[in-house]
Amino acid sequence: MLQQLEELEQSALRELSAVADADALEQWRIAYVGAKGKLKSMAAGLKDVPREEKPAVGKRLNEVKQAIEGAFESKKNELGSGGAPKCSGPMLDLTEPGLVPAIGRRHVLSRVRDELVDVFGRMGFSVAQGPELEDDEHNFVKLNIPAEHPAREASENFYIEEQSASAEPRMLRSQTSTVQIRVMENHQPPLKIISPGRVYRPDTVDATHSFMFHQLEGLYVDRNVTMVDLKTTLFQFARSYFGPEAEVRLVPSYFPFTEPSAEFYMKIRLRQDKPPEWVELGGCGMVDPAVFEAVGYDPEEWQGFAFGFGIERIAMGKYGVPDIRMLFENDVRFLSQL
Ligand code: DAH
Repeated sequence: MLQQLEELEQSALRELSAVADADALEQWRIAYVGAKGKLKSMAAGLKDVPREEKPAVGKRLNEVKQAIEGAFESKKNELGSGGAPKCSGPMLDLTEPGLVPAIGRRHVLSRVRDELVDVFGRMGFSVAQGPELEDDEHNFVKLNIPAEHPAREASENFYIEEQSASAEPRMLRSQTSTVQIRVMENHQPPLKIISPGRVYRPDTVDATHSFMFHQLEGLYVDRNVTMVDLKTTLFQFARSYFGPEAEVRLVPSYFPFTEPSAEFYMKIRLRQDKPPEWVELGGCGMVDPAVFEAVGYDPEEWQGFAFGFGIERIAMGKYGVPDIRMLFENDVRFLSQL
């Protein structure tokens, strides 16, 4: 039996030294140290050993067992924890800072538009929408803009080529004032709406012009509406959007759909290192009785004010953007600063 133990130890260690992966190690384990392995059957044979030899054989059996099991443990560690395949790639350093994923966000114009909707929403204005493809009726006629008005020149507008010559001319709207007409055609007063949206004009693109830009239109119709309500509304808007030092100034002007008409300026701080300055933001006025008549409202009973301004202007003012083109070029280096 001592001889057999000798052979078992040698073959076990020899075979173990040839083991190179977890699978082979498992095979070896089953063969030598498993429940039905050679070590176990050798131990079972101890009972047949003559009495006087038992102590010596038992001692040797223990030594062989320890040698084989010890060799198995160190082989297991060598092959990786739990005998898993050894990792060949670079070490994973869990203390390294993670890679921060680049998270996108909404375009500054979308955010400004939503903020404006929010500010006017708190003053009781709800949002109305109208089509970008419009007709003369809504873009001009019902807004009291006569046929000979220069704003109606074909070269001043994007007209659509119609399939048939008899079709009503259609155009990309040049102003959101169209929505005033559409709302009043479909609703009875009183009403209080704003309408943000795209408008189109064949202007040459430069730092302050674009062939497409955004306007925000406002219309309030009720009994006893006056110019004071208009100025208060614009003033409150200026304060809540641009801060407590914002001021509003109305300068007499002319628009066919309002009487009286004004341009409104806001004194706003465009840049932190400069004092606030007067910036022209848009037009406004009291709705012209001719407009009320065009939509079937009685101008003796109803009054209203309207205003319209460019959303790009507001965004440029609020964020100190020097060139309108930056808002449309979608350069991530620019957008990520806003
Ligand atoms: N629609 C005008 C424009 O595009 C702006 C405007 C002026 C809108 C006066 C109004 C208004 O509602 O009352 O220049």
